[in-house]
Amino acid sequence: MTDSITDVSPRYPARVAGFMLGPDTALKAAARLWFLVAVIGQWVFVYYILAFYGGSAVRGDLAAWNKVLPHGIIAGDTLGNVAIATHLLLAAIITVGGPLQLVLGAIITGGGPPQLTPKFRAGARPFHHWNGRIYMLTAFAISLVGLYMVLTRGVIGGPAQHVSISLNAVLIMICAAMALRHALAREIGPHRRWALRLFIVVSGVWFFRVGLMLWFFLTGGIGVDFETFTGPFLTILGFAQYLLPLAILELYLRTRDRAGAPGKLAMAGGLFVVTGLMGLGIFMATMGMWLPRL
Ligand code: HEM
Repeated sequence: MTDSITDVSPRYPARVAGFMLGPDTALKAAARLWFLVAVIGQWVFVYYILAFYGGSAVRGDLAAWNKVLPHGIIAGDTLGNVAIATHLLLAAIITVGGPLQLVLGAIITGGGPPQLTPKFRAGARPFHHWNGRIYMLTAFAISLVGLYMVLTRGVIGGPAQHVSISLNAVLIMICAAMALRHALAREIGPHRRWALRLFIVVSGVWFFRVGLMLWFFLTGGIGVDFETFTGPFLTILGFAQYLLPLAILELYLRTRDRAGAPGKLAMAGGLFVVTGLMGLGIFMATMGMWLPRL
């Protein structure tokens, strides 16, 4: 795999922002840009969780949660109220910890800027291990607490959303278990692939919000019943929130490892388009959903 921006394949160069990129470099650049934009968008989401839910909790104004949450704080349902508060705390932890874990993993396996010294890379290892333990534990806990809330309180949008979010929880736990198993067996290649899948399924609820706001922007909300929060588009999005990004990830991994230059350039182009749409969705979610609640 080529690493330098000056490594240009003479047969299949791609011109991106004035640079001539070889296929491997173009694909790597597209994947890095996607990750950077996703991380920025996820950290805006964390800011919203901490500022809105955390801020109102610190002020002792838990009633503010009910302006946003369909079920929220219910008088007399202590266990359910503890569950939603725990869920929100874990949501902040997992959304910060996921990207950090992938970056630490890349550093200790030789990725990232070549200027990083071997000592620095070795020093990142314990952080990766500890953050990984916290991340895995959080992934299981947030899924189990989420399932408890779905089963005891239901979920906005009806049976389709019920099934799709429950499947999301199951996939999170499967991917976490697989990533952990390969980490313990020191099988780094499969561990990385399962860790990436875990990051994608954990990001499902975030993709839902970004996808929803992008859809509103592009179509005005075709296939969405605003009264009941049901409709064909929401049913599709309920499953697509994690299945579509998972499919794109698999395509990316296969292309990176096995495809020739045209396939890599096509994948890079596709990823740039996906990143553009995702960026637009992040902007719409930030301006239309998260910031107005603060
Ligand atoms: C793993 C990553 C997850 C994150 C980061 C996350 C984050 C959140 C956030 C921030 C909210 C509050 C709504 C908002 O302000 O947008 C919420 C609500 C909710 N989450 Fe999650 N969630 C995750 C996974 C899950 C899973 C796997 C389930 C179900 C199995 C679930 C079930 C719910 C339910 C039912 C609510 C609404 C509570 C109500 O009706 O009042 N979440 N989640």
